[in-house]
Amino acid sequence: MKKIVILASGNGTNAQSIIDHFKESETVEVSLVLSNNPQAFVLERASKAGVPAICFNRFAFAKAEQVQKLLKAEHPDLIVLAGFLWKIPSFLIQDHPNKIINIHPALLPDYGGKGMYGMNVHRAIIENKERESGITIHYVNENYDEGTIIQQATCPISATDTAEDLAAKIHLLEQEHFATTIEELLQ
Ligand code: GAR
Repeated sequence: MKKIVILASGNGTNAQSIIDHFKESETVEVSLVLSNNPQAFVLERASKAGVPAICFNRFAFAKAEQVQKLLKAEHPDLIVLAGFLWKIPSFLIQDHPNKIINIHPALLPDYGGKGMYGMNVHRAIIENKERESGITIHYVNENYDEGTIIQQATCPISATDTAEDLAAKIHLLEQEHFATTIEELLQ
């Protein structure tokens, strides 16, 4: 069985679609959900789906070796950042070369970097009157949103779209592409 570990900080709609996508699979399982946020709804989603979930603080993640040890012991085939908002320390990237991927709700290299997450991204895109946005699935390296791009998908933005309208379009793209891209990567 190939193992996916998901890291998520919030609602977890992406985590949910990945869990759902693989729940009947005989070759791939979501074996663990990790979160930095004890209030994150993703923890409830994991618990409902019967997936073990663990919460950690910044010290356990970036300084002490707890999360590092946990991940090493899990031997994941893929570590998926699904709305995970902390920077990944370089020792974790070195432990899992080419095995950490992220989804970003814009067409990188545009609208990436520190502070560019969730609604901040959509607001900036609407303010700049862009006519297109999309999602980027990419490998994670030491810099925010700069690793090699695996896949992008686009959606048009109409002149009347609000940031919330754009968020809804991006949500649909994420639902359509994230789990299937993960499946392809694990083949
Ligand atoms: C998603 O739109 C994801 O692309 C974005 O956070 C949202 C999490 O939603 N990620 C980033 O902005 C990373 N820079 P979810 O918790 O419902 O999956």
